[in-house]
Amino acid sequence: MEKMWAGRFLKTLDKKADDFNSSIRFDCRMYAQDIRGSIAHATMLESVGILSKADKELIVNGLQEIKKDIDEGKLPFDLNAEDIHMFIEAELTKRIGDAGKRLHTARSRNDQVALDIRLYLRDEAKEIIALVKAVVVAIVDKAEENAEVIAPGYTHLQRAQPISFGHQLMAYAMMLLRDIGRIQDAVKRMNYSPLGSCALAGTTYRTDRAFVAKELGFDGITENSIDGVSDRDFCLELMSAFSVLMMHLSRLSEEIILWSSWEFKFIELDDSYTTGSSIMPQKKNPDMAELIRGKTGRVYGNLMALLTTLKGLPLAYNKDMQEDKEAIFDSIDTVKMCLEVLAPMLATMKVNAETTYRAAQKGFINATDLADYLVKKGMPFRAAYKIVGTIVADCIAKDCVLDTYPIEEYKKHSELFDADLYEEISLKTCVEKRLSEGGASPASVKKQIERVRAEILKTELM
Ligand code: ARG
Repeated sequence: MEKMWAGRFLKTLDKKADDFNSSIRFDCRMYAQDIRGSIAHATMLESVGILSKADKELIVNGLQEIKKDIDEGKLPFDLNAEDIHMFIEAELTKRIGDAGKRLHTARSRNDQVALDIRLYLRDEAKEIIALVKAVVVAIVDKAEENAEVIAPGYTHLQRAQPISFGHQLMAYAMMLLRDIGRIQDAVKRMNYSPLGSCALAGTTYRTDRAFVAKELGFDGITENSIDGVSDRDFCLELMSAFSVLMMHLSRLSEEIILWSSWEFKFIELDDSYTTGSSIMPQKKNPDMAELIRGKTGRVYGNLMALLTTLKGLPLAYNKDMQEDKEAIFDSIDTVKMCLEVLAPMLATMKVNAETTYRAAQKGFINATDLADYLVKKGMPFRAAYKIVGTIVADCIAKDCVLDTYPIEEYKKHSELFDADLYEEISLKTCVEKRLSEGGASPASVKKQIERVRAEILKTELM
């Protein structure tokens, strides 16, 4: 296929160099956005009198036909085309003749590609937000089911204080709400049209950039043509937001992996989200959670790759920037896949309330509450803390827990102890008493659930 820029050259491009240079293998996925952008551009050119009405109509119809043919699989991408922009323009000219050659007036591939990526990412960001929401809904539903389930809360991965299991789950809902906010913020800054920046310096034609911006649903236009074509901050911002999101998914996955081990047995994953072993018949492995944890690395990697690509690039466009696409596309695909398996995996996960309760009983996690019992009867906290420490040591020696330590024994440590202490340190009381705002009680969990559900409804309207 003859290059559009062939006029200046005496020789054709070396085959390997041509393949090396070509991006259609991956940028073909932006065909719909490329066509949308070209239709807006042609419409603008006609509105300012650069294109005739007849040419504009030929172009718009031609582009719509091409879109339809690609959608329906009737028009395969020509891998010899340099990129999706060249492919569509060449195809258009093949179909409508000279009018097709007028489309690229007052435009360059540099502003065209900058526009296409923004349009593409805006579309994808919307889909990703919907998928994050689906995970939040799964978490909130699971938290509601398990609001009354008592479990140990941890610090240093050591049993620390008793909590509602729903409370731990809701922590992840809060993280994901912030992730939605971060993606929305990135989209806000991305939503400016670079079209009309042309190669780097704008154009001598009297174009109407605001018209194109409005036509394509942007909030305005980029204000410096050099910045318009060299800026890829919006890719970086989105990839940063995805990296934080993946970090959250990875932490949740890590807990799912731990909780589903025989050592914990806090949860059981549904068969449809686990795999077996080729040799060990008893195995049920949490592969999906492990993969989410594992894929977090590549999403971070893509962010680092593009940061490194852009570092040190002189203004304006450089071909290095073609490297933006595979990085951001891979991050998008990865994030979507992870979210798509995570939501149903959480929805079908079973929580074992007996095991979490037993685990909460064993680690003396009501020791703080026992100290508080003495404090409420007038003892200074430090003194109470010391006495409870001695009692814990005695329990360990006698192989019992605070709940089964006899009252006569308690009384040897302090005459402030009475039989009502058992009620006071029962796990149920300990959890239900944690009524401070955002605390671990079932009542607090229910409040959080309400808040998050309302927030999700609100983002629906955006
Ligand atoms: N395929 C190129 C990219 O993705 C499009 C822009 C090419 N511009 C140029 N002047 N060679 O970056």
